[in-house]
Amino acid sequence: MRQALLWLSHQQSIFRFVRSNPLAKRFASRFVAGETLDTAVAAVQELNARRITASLDLLGESVTKPEEAGAARDEYLRMLDRIAADKVDANVSVKLTQMGQDISEVALRENAFAILERAKKHNSFVRFDMEGTPYTDRTIDFFARECFLDFGKHCGVVIQAMLRRSPKDVDLLVGMGARIRLCKGAYLESSDHAFPAKKDVDAQYVSLMQKLMTEGNYPGLATHDEQIIAEAKRFAAANRIGPERFEFQMLYGVRRDLQEKLRSEGWNLRVYIPFGTQWYPYLMRRLAERPANIAFIMGNVFKEAVGGQ
Ligand code: FDA
Repeated sequence: MRQALLWLSHQQSIFRFVRSNPLAKRFASRFVAGETLDTAVAAVQELNARRITASLDLLGESVTKPEEAGAARDEYLRMLDRIAADKVDANVSVKLTQMGQDISEVALRENAFAILERAKKHNSFVRFDMEGTPYTDRTIDFFARECFLDFGKHCGVVIQAMLRRSPKDVDLLVGMGARIRLCKGAYLESSDHAFPAKKDVDAQYVSLMQKLMTEGNYPGLATHDEQIIAEAKRFAAANRIGPERFEFQMLYGVRRDLQEKLRSEGWNLRVYIPFGTQWYPYLMRRLAERPANIAFIMGNVFKEAVGGQ
């Protein structure tokens, strides 16, 4: 099921069909904060009211045309301006393939630097999301060699615990003082690159998390895994690591009960808010993580539909 959903995430023809379907849009709204910046900012305001911070993500990836990358860049510039103007507590998350990583180095630099400059101007922050393994080296290189020196306070990168290489990457980035978000990894990878067994991914997550909590620069612990979250809390208490030293991060619409609980216990929490018209591959990855969501969301959509009549 996971593999089938991840395969579907690449099928643009299915997306074209799905996008015009109101039921599918309702389905997506559980995980995606609408198609416009206004709807996304409203979602940030709602979270901020509950003392939860946010990271806004304009959905879109694997861009192959320079004008599309330019349009995505411009939307990010508008997002950063809007965050500053509305004084909401949010930063942004960016996929480098959306900035032209597959087009040319020049396009990537031009678009990513424009966003970093704007983030610096507003004293904000840009997180480079991590995509599949064809991009791991290029993303870390670009971050470490080209962005960190000038924008180190204003940008960070993501490490995927599922990858065998990640301990080395964490060593390098922690040594530089870079800000890291740690996640398990959402892409389909071969066993050459990634641990096939969940228990190995989880074990590596915990060991990298402990390193980041002790030596890292305000790491983001991105997970909904209750056992790992419990371990983070235990480790923080045992090593006198205060809540100001790291933040938990979760996805919009996922485990809202746990989000409330963490915040009520006084832990910093940031919610990743995707929005925009290109929601289909993102939604498919979320469903692949937990196919039971299909039944769960269908149930909710049905309840709302019946309730609304
Ligand atoms: P795991 O998948 O083991 O799930 C643990 C529990 O969490 C499940 O039992 C379930 O209760 C709940 N859960 C998890 N996913 C759910 C879902 N979709 N719906 C409902 N419940 C769910 N990946 C990547 O490759 N590159 C990136 O840049 C990012 N960025 C990122 C940012 C943030 C803030 C988060 C939280 C996650 C990412 N990810 C990511 C995604 C990440 O790699 C991973 O796929 C998901 O977070 C799911 O993994 P968990 O750690 O939650 O554990």
